[in-house]
This record gives sequence, structure tokens and C-alpha cells, in this order.
Amino acid sequence: FGDRVLAGLSVVVSAGPTYEDIDPVRFIGNRSSGKMGFAVAEAAARAGAQVTLVAGPVTLATPHGIGKRIDVRSAAQMHAAVADAATQADIYIGAAAVGDYRPNTVAEHKLKKQHGTDLTLQLAENPDILASLSSRQGHPFLVGFAAETQNVESYARDKLQRKGLDMIAANQVGDGMGFETADNAITLYWADGSAELARADKAVLARQLVEHIAKRYKAVRG
Ligand code: PMT
Repeated sequence: FGDRVLAGLSVVVSAGPTYEDIDPVRFIGNRSSGKMGFAVAEAAARAGAQVTLVAGPVTLATPHGIGKRIDVRSAAQMHAAVADAATQADIYIGAAAVGDYRPNTVAEHKLKKQHGTDLTLQLAENPDILASLSSRQGHPFLVGFAAETQNVESYARDKLQRKGLDMIAANQVGDGMGFETADNAITLYWADGSAELARADKAVLARQLVEHIAKRYKAVRG
């Protein structure tokens, strides 16, 4: 980095999946490895930000320069940790793949197999972390991610509006990109513009993303 484009700013980044427990040995999760969010957290720290990284269950080491790491498991825990950290933050970047639903109840003991019958799990909707932040007075500059397998622009622009975001980073999932992979490709959207970040290693993309965030942040908040 030539410029410390986020110097003096406090940034919260969420990364990784969430695990929604079914019983003591089973859960509902997703394929996020945390690589993208950890790369964004590292890039923000290199750009001079004070970074808090809220991580779901991942196997990654804390990147260099991170001020504070908070490990969580479920969407509810991630929500609480982000809500708390974001009260002090200038920017929140939601790179985590947060579970949209959780089992209605978590069984205290391991569920036993019932031979010859289907099992139905009742799921409850999880709160949306980004949407709950955007409804707060004086909320941080909000950057969301959108992982889509089709209609990337329309789904991403819909999330930008519906969740009240300042910017959204859309990635097309598949073809060796998105979840778990080393590479990604991102199209950034904001209210009156967009930018293509061509396929590259997540560390490279994270640095480009941080530069765009800094530019937009300064345009609307600076
Ligand atoms: O971790 P990797 O293996 O490197 O993969 C990276 C990634 C593909 C997971 C990442 O780049 C990415 O796209 N993350 C968002 C994944 C996603 O599925 O988002 P979504 O479309 O469900 O949600 C959109 C946005 O709302 C996200 O910023 C998400 O953090 C946020 N959200 C979603 C649900 C919820 N309850 N609260 C939220 O804040």
C-alpha cells in the first residue's frame, strides 16, 4: 500500500460461516472458509485502520495487524458481537456467510434415528445483521457482500437497497470462485455507480476493495 487510505478509522469485518446447532453433535453450516473476510481485515489493517475481526468457525490464523479478534459460532452470537463492536466503528464490512435460519430448538441430547420415518426440522429466521445496523441512528458506513449463482446484478442491487447499504460486493459463485477458493471476482455496486474487480487472488481483491471503500467513504462521509 502506498497510501494508508483508512488511517484513523475504525473498521469491523465479519468473516466465515455460522453454525446453527441441531443437537450436541450436528449443525447447519455453509461452505465459507473465512478467506475473503480475513483478507479484507488484513487489507484494512494495512491501510491504517483499527480493525476488529468477528470470525465464525474457521481454521485461519489471525492476520497481521488486527487489533482484536472475536470468535463466534452462531448467527445470534455474530449478531451480538458485531452490534457491540459496530457502536464505535466508522465502517462495517460484512463478508461472513450468515445462516439465514436456525433450528427452532437445540436438542439437549443427540437425536436418535427413527427408522422408517422422515425427520422434519423446524427452522426460525435469524435476524439480519446488516439490516439491523442500518436502522440505527449514526450507523457506520455499511458494506455487504452478495454471493449469487445467477442474476448477480439484480440480486445484489436489491440487497443494497433492502438492507440499506452504502456499497455491496457481489461475487458469482462457481467456476472455481466464491466459497472456499483462493480466487474471487467482484463487482462493486453503490447507489449511483459500479466497478469491476477482475478475477484475482482474494488478497489482491481485498486491497482493491479497501481502496474503493475508502474513496466512497470519503465521498459520502468525509
Ligand atoms: O469465506 P470464503 O470461503 O473466502 O468465501 C467468501 C464468501 C463467498 C463467503 C464471501 O465473499 C461472500 O460473498 N460473503 C457473503 C455470503 C452470502 O451468502 O451473503 P448473503 O447473500 O446471504 O448475504 C448478503 C449480505 O448480508 C452479506 O454481507 C451477509 O454478511 C449479510 N447478512 C446475511 C444474513 C444475515 N442474517 N445477516 C447479514 O448481515
